Amino acid sequence: MTLLDRVSLAVLQKFDPETAHGLALKAVRAGLLPKRRPEGPARLRSSLGALALHNPLGLAAGFDKNAEALGNLALSGFGFLEIGTVTPRPQPGNPRPRLFRLTEDAAAINRFGFNNDGMEAVAHRLATAPKWLPIGVNLGANKASPDRAADYVTLLRRFHGLASFFTVNVSSPNTERLRDLQGKAALAALLERVIETHEQLESAAIAKADFPEDTARRPVFLKIAPDLDLDELRDVADVALGIGVDGIIATNTTLSRDGLVGPRSSEAGGLSGQPLFDRSTAVLATLARLTEGRIPLVGVGGVGSAEQAYAKIRAGASAVQLYTALVYQGMGLVPRLLEDLDSLLARDGFSCVAEAVGTDLTADT
Ligand code: FNR
Repeated sequence: MTLLDRVSLAVLQKFDPETAHGLALKAVRAGLLPKRRPEGPARLRSSLGALALHNPLGLAAGFDKNAEALGNLALSGFGFLEIGTVTPRPQPGNPRPRLFRLTEDAAAINRFGFNNDGMEAVAHRLATAPKWLPIGVNLGANKASPDRAADYVTLLRRFHGLASFFTVNVSSPNTERLRDLQGKAALAALLERVIETHEQLESAAIAKADFPEDTARRPVFLKIAPDLDLDELRDVADVALGIGVDGIIATNTTLSRDGLVGPRSSEAGGLSGQPLFDRSTAVLATLARLTEGRIPLVGVGGVGSAEQAYAKIRAGASAVQLYTALVYQGMGLVPRLLEDLDSLLARDGFSCVAEAVGTDLTADT
């Protein structure tokens, strides 16, 4: 760990976790971090549908919900960033405290409940963000919305032309009944509306494109929970493939408290970090088998090392995201992980990420 990370993490530990996170984001915005471009060895290049990535490591949703620090986050080494969750109207989220550290487990529990500045404020900030790095927006419904599916369509319309990809988030455990949208019928109805709108927006954008690169499709991803069983995952895969979603992000935080080694926290909310790794990787591998490489997958949950990122890739992920490990290891983790991932790929004779995707999957497991 770098000295800068060691000192800043020691200081941040003195604050309650939400205040610490706010300070960390301010530090990034103020440019207090070493600047690193995402370009690296050609071996680390990857893609998510039409999205070309300099490297397969992305910042997961929730870190910069309101697009406040994108200028410098783009220079932290990540190959892509995801902002949000954003809802159409601003909302305060749940009362504080709503973020908890589980230090012994290198984990966190949060029950933020989609606190965010709303799509207008976030869209204005996104409009001035760097254009040379893929930046996606994670879409969510307002808690009090009478038609939650309509919220996703509203958001897609607002952010089309501003974001490189869109994530339909139906997997936060902190908005009551949001996860019901993962059920087969509800998911199909939601995604049909979203994809139909997306097709219209894409056609209109292509029709007025001045440059060939403007015609590259901006993918729509679906982000799912790690708490779905095999039948539910089968339904998700069927619907996603049937309706033409561009990829799946697996996974969000879990309601399970399995695998904790430290004192068990009784706080309600979604668990992230190390204890989530096995569960989220198993869900990813199952989805990879069910979707048979027909759409790209993004692996997220408990990644804190190159070995873990590599395991997600071998389980079927074309790209990987992380969040909680930054709380424990600092931003210096990003270049370190990428360098080590490059070495692991080279060790095993892979010349690019795509060659390693899904290599741990066997037909009968
Ligand atoms: C999250 N995560 C998240 N996901 C999402 O889709 N929308 C969101 O607003 C948030 N907010 C959020 C806040 C906090 C404090 C945490 C720790 C996490 C989930 C996140 O994107 C990721 O899916 C999980 O945290 C699993 O990855 P890690 O943290 O184990 O690397």
